[in-house]
Amino acid sequence: MSIVARRMSLIKPSPTVAVATKAKELKAQGHDVIGLGAGEPDFDTPEHIKQAAVKAMAEGKTKYAPPAGIPELREAIAAKFVRDNDLSYDIGQISVSCGGKQTIYNAMMASLNPGDEVIIPAPYWVSYPDITLIAEGKPVVVECPAPSYKMTPDQLEAAITPKTKWLILNSPGNPTGAAYTKADLAALGEVLLRHPQVYVMTDDIYEKIVYDGFVFSTIAQVVPDLYDRTLTLNGLSKAYSMTGWRVGYAAGPLDLIGAMNKIQSQSTTSTSTISQWASVTALNGDHDFIAPNNEIFKRRRDMVVDMLNKADGLACPVPEGAFYVYPSCQGMIGKTTPDGKKLETDTDVVTYLLEAEGVACVQGTAFGLSPCFRISYATSDAALEEACTRIQRACANLG
Ligand SMILES: Cc1ncc(COP(=O)(O)O)c(C=O)c1O
Repeated sequence: MSIVARRMSLIKPSPTVAVATKAKELKAQGHDVIGLGAGEPDFDTPEHIKQAAVKAMAEGKTKYAPPAGIPELREAIAAKFVRDNDLSYDIGQISVSCGGKQTIYNAMMASLNPGDEVIIPAPYWVSYPDITLIAEGKPVVVECPAPSYKMTPDQLEAAITPKTKWLILNSPGNPTGAAYTKADLAALGEVLLRHPQVYVMTDDIYEKIVYDGFVFSTIAQVVPDLYDRTLTLNGLSKAYSMTGWRVGYAAGPLDLIGAMNKIQSQSTTSTSTISQWASVTALNGDHDFIAPNNEIFKRRRDMVVDMLNKADGLACPVPEGAFYVYPSCQGMIGKTTPDGKKLETDTDVVTYLLEAEGVACVQGTAFGLSPCFRISYATSDAALEEACTRIQRACANLG
């Protein structure tokens, strides 16, 4: 009999992490590979945030933290919600944990009974279905195709059943960068108000990475009647370039937050105390670095979208935020590679791009909507230009 639990057969390792690891391995073996798989900014953590961590260590703030997070950080988060989102939360309604990922994990473990349904618009961030499955829930995937990549109110209405516990919203989204406007959220909110058993988990981790004057909104702000059944989730990883510090947080109903804290108290206890002090400075401090970072991301987005749309067989919508594009590769499917392989799926397409041109992207099947692939443009302009040139060549070489 295997030592491994049956539940492990329900889930797979993160495919995006797998692509990033494979690209690094190939590079280490001397291959000329450009990795476009990683979902993290290539900017360093701002200096004043690093210095706050150094100061915390020097002051001996190196002990266990309460499972909910240090009160100073929860105060800073409460102030952030007021400042950015017009949302008022008591610090007892806030839970801090080891990244947005663990916050979602805690929320699902704390709320799902076996068979509870979780509506997940696709393309989705890879971890939503697998975390749902670990927590014995049932992912209900709703395909939301290009060009908007957003769920419509009719699609939401059709997906809701008496077993629906959660709708997960992610805006701006990974892998598409698509973002819901205030009007989009109000329309989804109208549907949700008709179904009082459904809670909303809104993953706002890319809130600050938006372009062309897009105004970010979150659903509890737009539809205040949903406040009591919304978990508003965010984190420091993306906008603050703090992926390795492992700080994410959520605010919502007291009973849910209490249950999430209980899980945390029996798993990780808390995220790093030092990271939490650095996050206090990040949230309360100077945010001037965000606009120049976004300028760089926008320049890259524009170049990548333009170059991909010039490639034969690709169609790439222009995303409102985050640092990903998600082109359709429908026009490559059915074509033949120079060494005679027929491209039948988006996995074939990304394998071809890697083998023929050394460009590592993530296949659409990982995100629940095919045939597409994801490119992260959180890498240098030069690498992106070279990667897109290679992708154009790979497309041109198909028969
Ligand atoms: C949509 C989305 N949510 C949550 C996360 C988790 O981020 P972290 O655990 O680093 O806070 C990611 C990271 O890729 C993401 O893309």
